[in-house]
Amino acid sequence: MSRTNRRRFLKQGSAMVAGATVFGFSGRAQQPAGANGKIVLGIIGPGGMGMNLLKSFAAQSEVEIAYVCDVDSDRMNKAAQTVEDLTKRRPKTVKDFRRILEDKSVDAVIIATPDHWHAPATILACDAGKHVYVEKPCSHNIREGRLMLEAARNHKRVVQVGTQSRSTEHITKAVELLRGGAIGEVLVAKAWNSQLRGSIGHAKPASPPAHLDFDLWVGPAPMVPYQSNLLHANWRWWHAFGAGDMGNDGVHDIDIARWGLGVETHPSKVAAMGGKYFFDDDQQFPDTQYVAFEYAGARKRQLIFEQRIWSPYVQEGHENGNAFYGTKGMLVLGKGGGWQLFGPRNELREKMAGKVDGPSHHRNFLECIKTGARPHADIEIGHLSATLVHLGNIATRVGRTLHFDPATEKIVGDDEAAKLVRRSYREDHWAVPKGV
Ligand SMILES: NC(=O)c1ccc[n+]([C@@H]2O[C@H](COP(=O)([O-])OP(=O)(O)OC[C@H]3O[C@@H](n4cnc5c(N)ncnc54)[C@H](O)[C@@H]3O)[C@@H](O)[C@H]2O)c1
Repeated sequence: MSRTNRRRFLKQGSAMVAGATVFGFSGRAQQPAGANGKIVLGIIGPGGMGMNLLKSFAAQSEVEIAYVCDVDSDRMNKAAQTVEDLTKRRPKTVKDFRRILEDKSVDAVIIATPDHWHAPATILACDAGKHVYVEKPCSHNIREGRLMLEAARNHKRVVQVGTQSRSTEHITKAVELLRGGAIGEVLVAKAWNSQLRGSIGHAKPASPPAHLDFDLWVGPAPMVPYQSNLLHANWRWWHAFGAGDMGNDGVHDIDIARWGLGVETHPSKVAAMGGKYFFDDDQQFPDTQYVAFEYAGARKRQLIFEQRIWSPYVQEGHENGNAFYGTKGMLVLGKGGGWQLFGPRNELREKMAGKVDGPSHHRNFLECIKTGARPHADIEIGHLSATLVHLGNIATRVGRTLHFDPATEKIVGDDEAAKLVRRSYREDHWAVPKGV
């Protein structure tokens, strides 16, 4: 790898390479607030993914889980019991995460709520001086992603996004090879999400279950009636709460594609097509989607995303995957499988097996709290990749090619699409981010 390429690779947040940028909080490493130097955490939203995170962080000897917080008391109590079983110490239980933010002994929060809460909770947490591990996609919309980045930088907080591929060895190695010119110049990267999802059916408004504070679940989003196919988990298929499967599973592969393509800015053009070709249910996002992003520059580059969430088969050996097309070869990668590198006549030159590594990503977050280094999936990385999700969904929704100004983060020449870089909010809700 040339020196320039290596420098660029390191700058882009190589997961495994030592010497990541140290940005220092008050010019020295952080002292965790907990007894015996432990890093004290609060887990917000211990649902599907939140419980995985809870177990992984509970297994780290340097961590103390002081709080679990969920608006569903059943889930909250189950999470508290799990922490007690694993660590022999029962955490406090709270329904409103502001109680965690008020506690000065808490160093960091883990946010695994639905997407519409990611930015409000992250921004409030940074304001309160907490470091944040926030699930992907980091934002519900482009504007909120920008505000999250500003909050992290203004308060000098570590904000790690839950794209664990950034701390996964075989993916880091593949990106290092791509940067080193192993397939020549990489001009096009593809990401695909080829899943077999179920229908969420049609449901009617109903009374929320007694163990759920639905008002707090909706939070700063405009109020809607409760219905059984909205939560848990199914919120990701609704515009007000999620980002479709492009933002759900797709964002992992999109992030890898952008990393391997070596682009550290936004695209300037987005063309898309798709819709609900298969499901007849209440989902609002496409089940079939193709998006092409074009990056401006002396040498243009393209990132392509494909999605079919009714596929009982995988694509090129991977349910979710990536292909990198270079001027001298091609690399095909699955984050759950491994990669193969082919030369100009399709000869297999190199391969590596590997599986996505969540715990490394979680340890990287803890390490950065102590050292002040930028995490592998820093919020700026998360914002650039989540913006692709949001732009792809907007272009598919309006059915037109979008022109995007990377500097101002505005869609130009299309008023309807331009409005969708933001969302609307419940009037005067305490969690509406300032400056939104
Ligand atoms: N990194 C990964 O591989 C991965 C995998 C799956 C999900 N995720 C992400 O994790 C997040 C959660 O997804 P999920 O499938 O677990 O959803 P889920 O609906 O199962 O869980 C979300 C939990 O958050 C709780 N919640 C909602 N609002 C809250 C609030 N204001 N305060 C506290 N708790 C609140 C809900 O009651 C629920 O228990 C999403 O952003 C998703 O994209 C990441």
